[in-house]
Amino acid sequence: MEYAKAEKLLKACGQEHLLSGWSELSKKAKDALLAQIATIDPEEIERCRAALCASAPAAAAVKSSGAAPKVATLKGVALAKAVAAGERELKAGRVAALLVAGGQGSRLGYDGPKGCYPIGPISDAPLFHFHARKILARSRRYGATIPWYVMTSEANNAETVACFERHGYFGLDPKSVFFFTQGMWPGMTKDGKIILDAPGHVFMSPDGHGGLLAALKRSGALDDMKRRGVRSVFFFQVDNPLVEVADPAFIGYHVMQKSEYSLKLCAKRDPYEKVGMPMRFGKSFRMVEYTEMTDEQCNRRTSDGELYFKYGSPAIHVFDRAFLAREASKAMPLHLAFKKIPVFDGKKVVKPAEPNGYKFEKFIFDILPNAKRAAFLAFDQKDEFSPVKNAEGGDSPATCKADMQAKWSRWFAASGINVPQGFPLEIDPVYALDAAELAKRGIRLGAE
Ligand code: UTP
Repeated sequence: MEYAKAEKLLKACGQEHLLSGWSELSKKAKDALLAQIATIDPEEIERCRAALCASAPAAAAVKSSGAAPKVATLKGVALAKAVAAGERELKAGRVAALLVAGGQGSRLGYDGPKGCYPIGPISDAPLFHFHARKILARSRRYGATIPWYVMTSEANNAETVACFERHGYFGLDPKSVFFFTQGMWPGMTKDGKIILDAPGHVFMSPDGHGGLLAALKRSGALDDMKRRGVRSVFFFQVDNPLVEVADPAFIGYHVMQKSEYSLKLCAKRDPYEKVGMPMRFGKSFRMVEYTEMTDEQCNRRTSDGELYFKYGSPAIHVFDRAFLAREASKAMPLHLAFKKIPVFDGKKVVKPAEPNGYKFEKFIFDILPNAKRAAFLAFDQKDEFSPVKNAEGGDSPATCKADMQAKWSRWFAASGINVPQGFPLEIDPVYALDAAELAKRGIRLGAE
């Protein structure tokens, strides 16, 4: 982009202050600034400013009016039917895996993409290893490729790809792994001015996991899915190595329900657990964030003493590909996060002690109300959800490793082997994808 074009674009959206220190910048810095400005979409900037001006949060209006959704628990014949339907889908090559790994992982404080974090209790294998090896094992089991779409951000894409290369794509065929980057959005002050965080440098942050839809379209990933004949898209987050990627029961249930957007839900550990909760509003559903729930809603009980809003969403979904394609062209709602953002004041960079600016994000679950049909499936948290969010305490590497080992211990117990407490344990998903496969291996504990 040329200077004159950049100036015109910025004037049109009231952001010409971004060029105020132009004459003092080096040639390289000028080019970098023009490249950043070229990514600014005046319409999006206007939406961000409008979101800042919106007075009362929309959330307040919907409080208390939702109902709990009907959540299926599959057992016996119903489970077998769902598994068979999912297996048919997998064998026909109609299933893709979709990972969001563009986040900043600020709570974990790890220097690198979160997916490269060493989580293997013995091997120190990265989070990506467990996802990749499950996809590989599942593809082999059903004799059909599960293409894997991995969303990164501009900030972590190169390091993510390097991690896959270093590990030989964890055994996967690189042709079946599709990296694509999400968008970045500029941060703004309260009065809607884009923030420079260094001379000639616009502060930008990833546009949230909802940025997925625009990025899938822009990158050609949606077309690639269509070309490969994908129908069901298994969505998951990078920080949960317990997730059963492309789980046949879930995929089968989704297909049998003719659902466009299916969610796995788990019983909340306590009434105030910080997880989103899908609720029914008339004929459609909407994800209600824990911050939007009233005390009464959190504690409401059914006549048999169970929590009425019993389930939360750990962000494990199956989407119909055509639904994603339909939604990808629509504008999504914006969510604001008030953060401490360094500011270049024309002379020096000031690091604020208090939040001073806004980041904007889109959330994938905001498309839930647009699904013509949605389905909800319960699962046991201890088997499938233990995210690495924080450096210490709850939802940390320590709790996650303990949960992985406890799950593998239960697999051994199912084969009649009791693993002593504290025994070092790690199972490569390609060796055994589940307890039944482990049993077939006829494994014994210890080095023999
Ligand atoms: P989180 O909300 O936990 O955010 O993301 P995070 O960035 O990983 O961690 P914090 O909040 O900074 O500590 C949940 C999932 O969504 C992805 C993350 O990579 C993770 O898999 N995500 C989040 C994106 O892909 N892009 C984003 O812009 C935000």
